This record gives sequence, structure tokens and C-alpha cells, in this order.
Amino acid sequence: MSTILITGWLGYIWSHAAVVFAQKWYDIVIIDNLSNTNLSVLEKLTTLIGKFTWRSRQPKFYQIDLKNTEEVRKVFHENKIDGVIHFAAFKAVEESCEDPFKYYENNISGGVSLYKVMNEFWIKNIVFSSSCTVYDTMNVTPPYDEQTPKKTINPYGSTKRMSEIILEDLSTHKGFNTILLRYFNPIGAHPSGLIGENPKGIPNNLLPYIYKVATGEYEFLNVRGNDYPTPDGTCIRDYLHVMDLAEAHVLAYEYLQKNKKFIPSSAGPEWFLDVFNLGTGQGTSVLEMIQLTEKAIDKKITYKIWPRRPWDAPTVYANPSKANTILGRKTQRTISEAIQDGWRFITKNNS
Ligand SMILES: NC(=O)c1ccc[n+]([C@@H]2O[C@H](COP(=O)([O-])OP(=O)(O)OC[C@H]3O[C@@H](n4cnc5c(N)ncnc54)[C@H](O)[C@@H]3O)[C@@H](O)[C@H]2O)c1
Repeated sequence: MSTILITGWLGYIWSHAAVVFAQKWYDIVIIDNLSNTNLSVLEKLTTLIGKFTWRSRQPKFYQIDLKNTEEVRKVFHENKIDGVIHFAAFKAVEESCEDPFKYYENNISGGVSLYKVMNEFWIKNIVFSSSCTVYDTMNVTPPYDEQTPKKTINPYGSTKRMSEIILEDLSTHKGFNTILLRYFNPIGAHPSGLIGENPKGIPNNLLPYIYKVATGEYEFLNVRGNDYPTPDGTCIRDYLHVMDLAEAHVLAYEYLQKNKKFIPSSAGPEWFLDVFNLGTGQGTSVLEMIQLTEKAIDKKITYKIWPRRPWDAPTVYANPSKANTILGRKTQRTISEAIQDGWRFITKNNS
């Protein structure tokens, strides 16, 4: 069976995708420096993978930083890797505006270090976690398909677009087989409640923040702007259940394996590159999310309205039809299910 190297494996999204990949019997090698997670996630994943797959063969974990090329090289020496899924990155938009260098260094240099070693070892299959932040969300009206013009409005988004451009170059000139996945807004948790989103510090995303109000840790939610050109004045986003997102990664990886052009024994300059949006195509406003959460978990969510932030686009949602048609992915779970699954994780971990 094929061995995949995953970077950022213990983070929010991949920890969910890991379960799905393990069910498909892939062998997994992990790199994570634990900058935004901790080892308890590894323990829980080991339990989950055992429970859902009855597998004795557990993922092999390396606690290293991707920027350390020598250490990354060691991982490739020690394992026969067939492809890479590259999740590891910093992702907080606000922090990226305060300290762009931290983002360029981690997200770009970390990636380049990885691609360099991949190229040395002739491992050229990669699925990259990109984001809808690459689209010109300030000037182009949604829904956004994969051809929507690109323009980033914060350093985090720029690191995603720069990484895409680097991978486009590496496909054309170094034979990389690449799939770029542009995520919209993942929410929720694995239905077991064992793993979920547990950010260090103040949450950057809406739902984890709402949960902190629901648990009483925060007194109220800060709603940033209610004068946007949307029906209730608050920003609209495309929320999808993290398990729907996780399952799409298996489809994308299998699609890559079927369509890859470069194979190590061939001499020709062949390569493959494709890009898919992962979203639902449905927009939900901040106030609607508050109402849906109140209903789903039966708790009052107090909020206060504040002025807009300069980096928030009013309305962002996907045209997901390319991934739906070509990869055969479907949105299987509702926002209310995602809210309930996420809440199960929060209550289990707070008790
Ligand atoms: N969660 C979202 O809303 C969202 C939306 C669009 C795109 N994305 C992208 O998806 C990917 C995964 O997001 P997530 O929500 O799981 O984030 P996360 O922070 O939970 O996970 C990222 C993981 O990468 C690790 N990491 C970061 N830098 C590293 C480095 N230099 N070396 C080794 N490990 C490193 C962290 O410790 C963490 O475990 C990221 O690339 C992110 O930009 C996320």
C-alpha cells in the first residue's frame, strides 16, 4: 500500500483527514513541529484509527520543523514515500498582518524546504492546502470558481498564492504532479468528539469563538461590522463540515494518482496540475451562524457589534461544481450537524 507523507498532520483539518486516509489503508508518515497543536492529538488519533480500521500499523511521527531541510531529508531517507499532502502552515489572518515575516518564513520557506527535498528524492506528487483567500474577494462578486481573478488582501493569503505559484513553476519545470485545494471555511469536528478544533490562544475563526462564549469563557462575541452590503449587514462565508473536507482529500489524492504524468523512470518533461475549490456553494452570515448555534446547542450567544476590519470581504462563497463533478465529492453534512459535532468535542474536552 502507498505511503503518504503528511505535514501538519496533528492540526485541525488533517487530524480529521487522517482517520479517513487510514480507513483506506494508506501508510502514513507525519511531520509536525507542534507549533499549533500538541501530542495529545496523536494519542487520540491512534485510538480513533484503531477503532475505525482495526489497524495495528500506526502513523510514524517526526516532530520537526519543515524549515529544517536536513531533518526533512532524513524523513525521506528513512521512508519510501509515494506522495505528500502539505497542510503545515500558520493561518491567522490578523497575526499575519501584524507580523508578515513570520508568515513568509514559515509558510513559504517551510514549503520550499519540503519541495527541495521532494525534488532530490524524485517524489513529485503533492496535494497542497490552499485557500479561498487567493481570490479577489473585494472586487469580484461570488460565487467564486477556480478561474476567478486572484488578488490577496493580507500576508496569510499572499503566502497561499505565492505557494501556488511556486508549485505551478515546479510542475512546469521540475515535473511535479500537483493538486491545489482551495478551502472555504471548515467547521465542526469528528462525530466521536475525540478530535476537533482546539486552537492555542484566542480563536481566529468564528465558530471556535462562539463556543467560548457558549462555555462562559468569554462574555460576548465581537461581531466585526454590521454595515456590509449583505441582507443582515454581517459578513457571509461558506462553512463546510470538516469531515466533508477531509473526505475530499482522499478523492483528490486518488485523482492525482490516476492522472499524474511524471513517473521517475520517464525522461520527458511531463507534469500535471489541477485546482479545486472545496466549499458548499451556500453562504451563511455571522448573525445566522449565531442563531444556528443557539438552536443547535441550546445556549444563548451574547454579542457586541464593532467596526469592520479592513481585511474582511463582505461575501465569500464557492462555486464547488468542479470538485463535485470531477472528484465526485458531495456535501453530506449540514451546518447544524457541524455545530453539534464541534460542540460535542468542546464539551468532552472541557469536562
Ligand atoms: N482552518 C481553516 O479555516 C483553513 C481555511 C483555508 C485553508 N486552510 C489551510 O489548511 C491547512 C491546515 O489548516 P488547519 O486549520 O488544520 O491548521 P492548524 O494550525 O490546525 O494545523 C497546521 C499544523 O501545521 C503545523 N505546522 C505549522 N508550521 C509548521 C512547520 N514549519 N513545520 C512543521 N509543522 C508545522 C502546526 O503545528 C499544526 O499542527 C493550512 O495550510 C491552512 O492555511 C485552513
